[in-house]
Amino acid sequence: MPPHKTPTPSYEAPDLPTRLPDLVLRELTAQDADAYYALLDRNREHLSRLGDYQAESRATPEWVREHLDEDPGGLRYGIRLGGRLIGRVDLIAVDPPRYGTGYWLDEAHVGAGHATAACAALYGYAARALGATDIYAGVTRGNDRSVALLARLGFEPVAEFADYTRFHLGLGER
Ligand SMILES: CC(C)(COP(=O)(O)OP(=O)(O)OC[C@H]1O[C@@H](n2cnc3c(N)ncnc32)[C@H](O)[C@@H]1OP(=O)(O)O)[C@@H](O)C(=O)NCCC(=O)NCCS
Repeated sequence: MPPHKTPTPSYEAPDLPTRLPDLVLRELTAQDADAYYALLDRNREHLSRLGDYQAESRATPEWVREHLDEDPGGLRYGIRLGGRLIGRVDLIAVDPPRYGTGYWLDEAHVGAGHATAACAALYGYAARALGATDIYAGVTRGNDRSVALLARLGFEPVAEFADYTRFHLGLGER
């Protein structure tokens, strides 16, 4: 039997403020191709250290343009500090109202709470505006910074796989 395919919902992506005054989420689109390529180009090693983000670590300008032209299957936001692109956070419509997530920061901006503030803003919006009930994240074993980030946000580990752990955040419980 062919796999059942649910149509990907499309979402409005308004700018989202965060609790940090200079930090804003704005949709990441094809118009950001040059800035996003520059960001990837200086983070190839940072992103692929644990074996994740293989495509990003090999990015070319053409790949970035095609990638940003694709439907993200949810919400794809650039994390902007004082207007400058410093990372990305996604909400993936895996099985609404249950969503997946992914996030990363420019290595030069790690360690200041920007990812925590960005994720909290996006998940709060997902709960309020999309009725999201659950968010899941898969974290490669050894990614201690990602585990610490998820713990700050209230996620809990729910399943272990060969090389990653699945974390869950119940939005109704907040
Ligand atoms: C995962 C990743 C986004 C985490 O970034 P991070 O900077 O550690 O997370 P935050 O931005 O929330 O910052 C937390 C740090 O800022 C500090 N901080 C300062 N002010 C803070 C605040 N208001 N709120 C939270 N933390 C704050 C925390 O103490 C913490 O510092 P520490 O790690 O030295 O203890 C980053 O490591 C990354 O981009 N990794 C590569 C890509 C990746 O692995 N993505 C995830 C795949 S599952």
